[in-house]
Amino acid sequence: MATYDTVIRNGQVADGTGAKLFAADVALKGDRIAAVGTPGSLKGDNEIDASGKVVAPGFIDVHTHDDTYIIDNPLMAMKASQGVTTVVCGNCGISASPYGRSDIPHLISLSVKKTENLGKTFAEFAGKVDAARPAINGAFLVGHSTLRFDAMNLDVNRRATASEIGAMREQLDLALEQGAIGMSSGLFYPPAMAATTDEVAEVAMPLGKWGAVYTAHMRDESEDILKSMDETFEIGRRAGAHIVVSHHKCAGRSNFGRMRETLPKFSDAMKQQEIAFDVYPYVAGSTILRKDMLDRADKVLISWSDSVKGVSGRDLRDIAKEMGCSVDEACDRLQPAGAIYFMMDEKDVQGAMSHSGAMIGSDGIPFDTHPHPRLWGTFPRVLGHYSRDLKLFPLEDAVRRMTSYSARHFRLAKRGEVKAGFYADLCIFDPTTVIDTASFEKPISPAKGIDTVFCNGAIAWHDGKPGGGRTGRALNRQQMQDEAKA
Ligand code: ZN
Ligand code: CU
Repeated sequence: MATYDTVIRNGQVADGTGAKLFAADVALKGDRIAAVGTPGSLKGDNEIDASGKVVAPGFIDVHTHDDTYIIDNPLMAMKASQGVTTVVCGNCGISASPYGRSDIPHLISLSVKKTENLGKTFAEFAGKVDAARPAINGAFLVGHSTLRFDAMNLDVNRRATASEIGAMREQLDLALEQGAIGMSSGLFYPPAMAATTDEVAEVAMPLGKWGAVYTAHMRDESEDILKSMDETFEIGRRAGAHIVVSHHKCAGRSNFGRMRETLPKFSDAMKQQEIAFDVYPYVAGSTILRKDMLDRADKVLISWSDSVKGVSGRDLRDIAKEMGCSVDEACDRLQPAGAIYFMMDEKDVQGAMSHSGAMIGSDGIPFDTHPHPRLWGTFPRVLGHYSRDLKLFPLEDAVRRMTSYSARHFRLAKRGEVKAGFYADLCIFDPTTVIDTASFEKPISPAKGIDTVFCNGAIAWHDGKPGGGRTGRALNRQQMQDEAKA
């Protein structure tokens, strides 16, 4: 009998494909899953007893802004504690490379705090991630807004010229060649609002050539959401790229219930081109503090403010009262700042999450003083609250939407399944106790019920603490493409 490094015994395997739980031993050797065998058939130098637990693939957080947080905080406790073993970074048009300047515009500062973490090229940036020896993996998109700031010398409130579009396209092409996994856009945000559909489609052209993904924080997630979906689908078609629509939502009370329109539209489009979307399991969103978003929200909490201390976590209306001014005026005084907006309908969120095109992404904002609880709670909340308690979908399907389905759309080769030959990214959790504990009041709080998390065969998290494993890395698109063929 072959001896393996580690054998996980007596667990129920949720293999990531959505197949029913089955009893099996899972054997690891080096950074791979070496065998999945009948209980008692495999022997290891180390043995882990997973009685009563589920052995699942490590979760893939497909929507993050962890680009440089992973360099500054390589243990990635807020994600490893949820069972996450890969974070997809660079969403919403915001990335740390390729960027030739040394100043960090407001929007980019959402995910980049230090100049030294920027990369002139993607290769330079990926080198910094690897040098930090993170506990989990990162896969990185190039942000269209980052390309814009760079190519247009920060003068972004206008259309890009043909030569600027050419420069952005060249930068994207080079970054993809060096291992970036795709491009994100954030046409909702001022630095990209002036970009036309043509601009984005022309910049995105290299995606098709490299088989890379296009992700979109759409221009509008409210009144004009259907138009924005058409725009997004058109950009994907013209660039020859498959699409992941970011954090699908119908924002604002006047748009509650409109998943009745958007979800069938997704279903139809999915028959024509490769499209999926990500969702987070909350009725509140979070981004920078913006006056034009206040009307849309029933309640606004401040997540950070650079100019006024002690306001993080507090209701904007209370802050305004205390300041003795209007909410708009308070908004100005707090800038630059971030906020949490309660602006979605619970039924819509559940509808989106259980649609055939949905995968789970946190959209957590890691540097915020008082972050949205999704940063620490997303995956256990889907497993415990939505799957187990509300029975929105079976556990196996919840796991699939966090693993194999995500890996497939982001082309993360040999990840997202418990299968011999795949990377040993695993999450062992207790299905009866797993739950998020992070709340809007107390957002920094690790989940319950996550037992042991392996990334590339090493233990990234165990028993409520980092496990010491530092074997994560920047995943490289070209390498993954070669591995997928092998
Ligand atoms: Zn976004
Ligand atoms: Cu985002």
